[in-house]
This record gives sequence, structure tokens and C-alpha cells, in this order.
Amino acid sequence: MYDRFNRKINYLRISVTDRCNLRCVYCMPAEGIQMLNHEDILTFDEIVETTRTAVEMGVDKVRITGGEPLVRKGIVDLVGMIAAIPGIRDFAMTTNGTLLDRFAQPLADAGLHRVNISLDTLDAEKYRQITRLGDIRDVFRGIEAARKAGLMPIKINCVVKRSSDEPDAREVRRFAEDNGLMVRFIPEMNLETGTFGVVEGGDGGNCKKCNRLRLTATGGVKPCLFSDIEFNVREAGPGTAIRLAVENKPRSGTVNKVNLFHNIGG
Ligand code: 5AD
Ligand code: SF4
Repeated sequence: MYDRFNRKINYLRISVTDRCNLRCVYCMPAEGIQMLNHEDILTFDEIVETTRTAVEMGVDKVRITGGEPLVRKGIVDLVGMIAAIPGIRDFAMTTNGTLLDRFAQPLADAGLHRVNISLDTLDAEKYRQITRLGDIRDVFRGIEAARKAGLMPIKINCVVKRSSDEPDAREVRRFAEDNGLMVRFIPEMNLETGTFGVVEGGDGGNCKKCNRLRLTATGGVKPCLFSDIEFNVREAGPGTAIRLAVENKPRSGTVNKVNLFHNIGG
């Protein structure tokens, strides 16, 4: 699929839940989050049908995100269903890693290729402050489990205030180098104000090179993280929703006042 600006669209990011076991300060409010109703969340069959349609239309790279995807009940089954779709060349998941100790091997067995794991600092106390709930030791265990299970290359997602020169980011870079992990530095973004920057070590945030579509947990196909536009697969059907999203993909991002990171998956 090509959009109006001749960008090849071949990457689908699927948010499977708006829920998370953490409450990162830049992603979720501490409390009072409006969670989605169960009946509004796409079923596995709907997600798989949408993914299959996207693959038939030219998508060959798929990522599962959240919220935290590993808190969705039956996630390993969903991964197996998506892995069975012929034509997916790259099948990854973005996770906070805290539950990977338990899930890495089953995910690999189900057909997941690799994981991106969020880690913004090496300091246990700071990690607790950023995530409000997390124990950094769970992430270290999760990284080791992912390595053992062969979910490679493992990439670390490190959110920075401005640049990878910040002390926490430098430590994360060293940790990654010492442990054979790749690392991407993501400048902290704000959907509402349209504040975003280019991801260092990845393609995110670079509108000229953007090849993505997003599927929200409630079935919206979104052409851009920084846009309110979406076409729902339940209303339009997957093929039409995907086509309309591609046709309406903006040249570059502006603002998104309808989503928050925990319900669009970053
Ligand atoms: N800015 C940048 N990255 C964010 N993420 C979540 N919220 C934000 C934000 N406001 C990132 C997480 C994780 C991925 C799911 O999205 O750190 O790596
Ligand atoms: Fe959860 Fe990831 Fe959001 Fe943190 S950034 S609250 S781990 S979804």
C-alpha cells in the first residue's frame, strides 16, 4: 500500500488492551483512568481478521502493544493466531517486561519473533518513581527470559526528556552494550500538544519515513499517532477501514486529543 505522499505502508501496530500493571508518569494518570468496557474491546477473531486483511493489502511487519499486552487474557493464544497468518516477515511485541519471566518462552513457542522492553533508568528507586508500581528486578528477569527464549534482537525502549545524553539514558546505553541489547531513545511526547521528536535508533517520529498504521483496542484504524483521525473496523469493515486510513494518512503529525498513550500503544 502507498499513501498520498508515496510512503509505503507495511507496518501495523496492534494495541490489544488499554490496561497496564504499571502507571508510568508520562503515559497514565495515577488514578481515575477511564478503562474501556469489555464489549468495546476487539475480540481475538476481530483482531486476527483485521491483521489478515492488512497483510493481504501489503503489511508484512506487525507489532503487538498495549497498554501492557501481557495483561490481556489469552495473549499467548492471540500471538499464535497472528503468527499463523502467512506473509508476516517481522512479528514483535512492545512490553514493559515485568511479566516476561513467565511469558517469554510461551510467546516464542507461539511464534513471536522478538520483543522491545521499556527501561528508562537502571536505578531501582527511580524506576519505581517513573512507573509508580514497578520493581526493576522483574524487568531484568524478563530480559534474561527473553534472551533464553530467543526473542531476539531484544531492543530496549528508553524514554528521555530531551536527549540520550542524560545520565539515566547513558547508563541504559551502557547496560545495553554490556548485555548485547539494542537501545532506542524516545523523546518524551505529548499527544495533546503535538510534542514529538525523532526516536534515536529507530524510525518513530520521522514523518517522512513513516510506514505505520495503528489498530486501537476498540477497533480504530489510525493513520497517525498524532492525529484524531480513525476508521473503525466494526463500522466500516477491516478492508475499508484500512484503505480509508491509508488514503487519509497526513503528511505529518499534529495533535491527538482523543487518545492517550496507554490506549494507543506508543
Ligand atoms: N512519550 C514517549 N514514549 C512514551 N511511551 C509511553 N508514553 C510515552 C510518552 N509520553 C513509550 C513507553 C514504551 C512504549 C510503549 O511507549 O516508554 O516504551
Ligand atoms: Fe504501562 Fe507502558 Fe504506559 Fe508504562 S508506558 S504505564 S508500562 S503502557
